[in-house]
Amino acid sequence: DDDKAKISIGFSQSIDYDIWRKSMNHAMEVEAALHPEVNLTIYNANRKAKKQIQDIEKFIADKVDVIIVSPFESDSIIPVIEKAKAIGIPVIIVDRKVNTSNYTAYLGADNVEVGRIVGRHIVSLSKGNANVIEIKGASYTSPGLERSMGFSQIINQYPNIKVITIDAQKDELPKDLFIKSLKNSPEINYVYAYNDVIAYQAWKATKGEKAKNKIKFIGVDGLNGPFGGIQLVQDGILESTVLYPTGGSEAIKLAMKIANKEIVPKNNKLNTILINSLNADIMSNQFDKITIQQSDIEQQQSVIRRQEEKYSSQSTLLKLLFSL
Ligand code: FRU
Repeated sequence: DDDKAKISIGFSQSIDYDIWRKSMNHAMEVEAALHPEVNLTIYNANRKAKKQIQDIEKFIADKVDVIIVSPFESDSIIPVIEKAKAIGIPVIIVDRKVNTSNYTAYLGADNVEVGRIVGRHIVSLSKGNANVIEIKGASYTSPGLERSMGFSQIINQYPNIKVITIDAQKDELPKDLFIKSLKNSPEINYVYAYNDVIAYQAWKATKGEKAKNKIKFIGVDGLNGPFGGIQLVQDGILESTVLYPTGGSEAIKLAMKIANKEIVPKNNKLNTILINSLNADIMSNQFDKITIQQSDIEQQQSVIRRQEEKYSSQSTLLKLLFSL
C-alpha cells in the first residue's frame, strides 16, 4: 500500500454545484484513478473565501506533495498561497488567477482571448452593426474581468455596435435588470453572457417576449453532455459558445510532473475555440469518444483491483493453510 500513495495531491475547489466545476472535479478524479500512486483529496469551499483559505491551510498542515487551487477570489487567497510556496509545497492555480506571482504554475485558457473571439464573431455576423447586451461576470474574478475586457477591445473599434453591460455578480442572471434593459433599449440583436448557464437563463427569461426569436445568445464554457453549452448550441438555444476547458486532467498530470521534480512552464495555456452549429456535432462526438475511452480504462482498472483483492485474499488463505 505504501508505494501506492507516493504522491499526495490536495485540490481546493471553490464552488461545486455547477456542471463546469463538477466536470473539473470528475476529470481530476478520473486522471488520478489512472495513476495508482496518486492520492487525491478534494475540498470544496462552497463560494466562501474563508473556507477556501482554511482548506488550503489544512493541506499545508497535512504536508501534501502538491496543492492545486481553483480560486474563488483573486485577492483574499494570496497570503495562504504564498505561505504554501514559502514552506516548499508547490502550488498549481487553475482557472481564476491570483494577484501574486508566488505560485508554481498556472493552468487555464486565456479569458481575454475568449472575449475577443466573441467580439470578432459578433462583428462578422453583424457586419459591424448591432445592439448587444453583455452580461458580465463577477469583478472579483479574473474570468469575469477578462472576458469583458477582450470583448471591449474588439467591439470598441466598431462605433455602430452598441453595448449595454449589466453585472452578474453572483454567477446568475440579474433577471429584473436584464428584462428592464431589454425593454428600455432599441431592438437587441445579441446577448453575450459570461457563461452558458447565464446565457441559458437569459434565453429563458426572454421567453414569450417578441424579441426572443431575433436575439442570438452567446455563452462561454461549451461543456459536453446534458445541459452543456454544446447541447444548447445543437438545440438552437445558443447561437454559439466558446470552449473553456476545465483543465481537470491536465492539472493532475502537471501535479505529477512537479511532484517528480520535473521542470514545468509557469504558464500552461489551454485551448479555446468558438463552437456554433458548424462544429457542435464534431465537438460533441470527439468529447464522447474521450469519455468512452476513460470509462473503459476505469472499468479495466476496477477489474484489475478486484483480481488483486482476490489474489491477496487467496494468498492469505494459502499462508493460513501452510501455517497450519
Ligand atoms: C463555473 C464558472 C464557469 C466559468 C468559470 C470561471 O463556476 O463560472 O462558468 O467558466 O467558473 O471561473
